[in-house]
Amino acid sequence: MNFNLETQRLLLRPLQLSDADDMFIMDSNPNVHIYLGNNPLTSKEESIGYLKNILNQYEENGIGRFAMITKNSNKFVGWCGLKFITEEENNHSHFYEIGYRLKEEFWGKGYAYEAAKAWYSYAFTILKVDTLYASAHIDNKGSRRILEKLGLQFKNEYTWNNHIPCVWYASK
Ligand SMILES: CC(C)(COP(=O)(O)OP(=O)(O)OC[C@H]1O[C@@H](n2cnc3c(N)ncnc32)[C@H](O)[C@@H]1OP(=O)(O)O)[C@@H](O)C(=O)NCCC(=O)NCCS
Repeated sequence: MNFNLETQRLLLRPLQLSDADDMFIMDSNPNVHIYLGNNPLTSKEESIGYLKNILNQYEENGIGRFAMITKNSNKFVGWCGLKFITEEENNHSHFYEIGYRLKEEFWGKGYAYEAAKAWYSYAFTILKVDTLYASAHIDNKGSRRILEKLGLQFKNEYTWNNHIPCVWYASK
């Protein structure tokens, strides 16, 4: 993966294995995982495995989630971006999804929406995707608000992993 995106306050760059410490800080925080199945990570090795998986997606799909870095202080905020999903979810497979996850200290500052807007635009202008999809836990008000601000439309409720109540959004 050899490109970056920039927003007003953020550099969006490919994730790398050296992000493992920051990823572990983010993903070992139970608050971050409230709407992600309540299963925070317990070892840095899990973060390394997660990053290796993303590096594979870059190779195989030409896209994957990117790191969000503050331009003024070079801090790792979290990740945001597009993922090409091959598995079936809510009766869809082989589709582009937009998502984001931030360290708790960076919540509430508009960073997720700022990065998501850049990826939304990349999806349609560069990747020329036909339809962009997203999902969220039904009670994840922040995530749903971002999707609605982007202009995605609520489509239906469904259950993920047999027990997590989710909502499905699409760009059309
Ligand atoms: C959800 C998450 C990405 C939001 O990130 P953020 O940077 O705080 O969001 P933003 O500041 O860009 O906020 C965007 C909008 O959502 C609203 N919002 C954000 N968090 C909210 C919350 N907890 N409750 C209600 N509204 C919320 C903001 O007010 C803003 O709307 P506005 O412009 O009308 O005021 C962040 O809380 C997070 O990483 N959570 C843990 C992981 C997660 O749940 N990821 C999403 C999985 S689907």
